[in-house]
Amino acid sequence: MMSIKVLGISTSPRIKGNSDLLLRRALDGAESAGANTEYLRLTDYKVSPCIECNACYVTGLCKVQDDYQQLLKKILDADRIIFATPIFFMTVCAQAKMLIDRCQCLWAHKYVLKKELNTAGHDRRAMVIAVGGSRSKKQFESVRLTMKSYFDSLQMLYVANLFVNKIDALGDIEKHPSALNEAYRLGIQLIDADTILSDKPFNIELT
Ligand SMILES: Cc1cc2nc3c(=O)[nH]c(=O)nc-3n(C[C@H](O)[C@H](O)[C@H](O)COP(=O)(O)O)c2cc1C
Repeated sequence: MMSIKVLGISTSPRIKGNSDLLLRRALDGAESAGANTEYLRLTDYKVSPCIECNACYVTGLCKVQDDYQQLLKKILDADRIIFATPIFFMTVCAQAKMLIDRCQCLWAHKYVLKKELNTAGHDRRAMVIAVGGSRSKKQFESVRLTMKSYFDSLQMLYVANLFVNKIDALGDIEKHPSALNEAYRLGIQLIDADTILSDKPFNIELT
């Protein structure tokens, strides 16, 4: 049997940031259950913002040439994505948002050109890990909205969220064993073909 390919995208600008450590734990969980995992740090790649040239409305492709092209290949090759972001100003960080916005070409491919991706019909699922320093839980709503729209464009089913708040300083997440355990468990669950799927992601919110 081919093993399931899981791509972990770490968007925090901090090395070993809180969301990054949770992502690594989730990837460990997926790997323990037999997945083939790949971890990437978005800040190792050069991704500039969408320039709204709308060239993709005609071609379905992004004409801005940078590392996005190789990231897109990895994203489309993955059976599962775990997308980790810190909360910046009530939503995903700017690094994450730049990658998300560049997927406008996939949005155009689907909604303007009305074409299916080559991955259509494949079992592709995604989950989000987000960590915020404040006590606000409202901010996770904006993450959910943005990520839903993103995963729709990728034609992936958005299955789960792990949201943790009141975690601020670098490494604070290491003092939160239940968040680390949940990340590991969700990593295992993400590759379990028997998980009951719903049209809304399953949420775990921890403080
Ligand atoms: C520019 C900036 C904006 C932030 N905005 C928020 C915010 O709106 N809400 C919040 O809970 N935390 C906010 N934080 C705190 C981070 O979310 C928090 O430190 C988190 O642990 C960072 O995750 P990371 O270590 O994975 O990067 C902000 C931090 C920065 C640097």
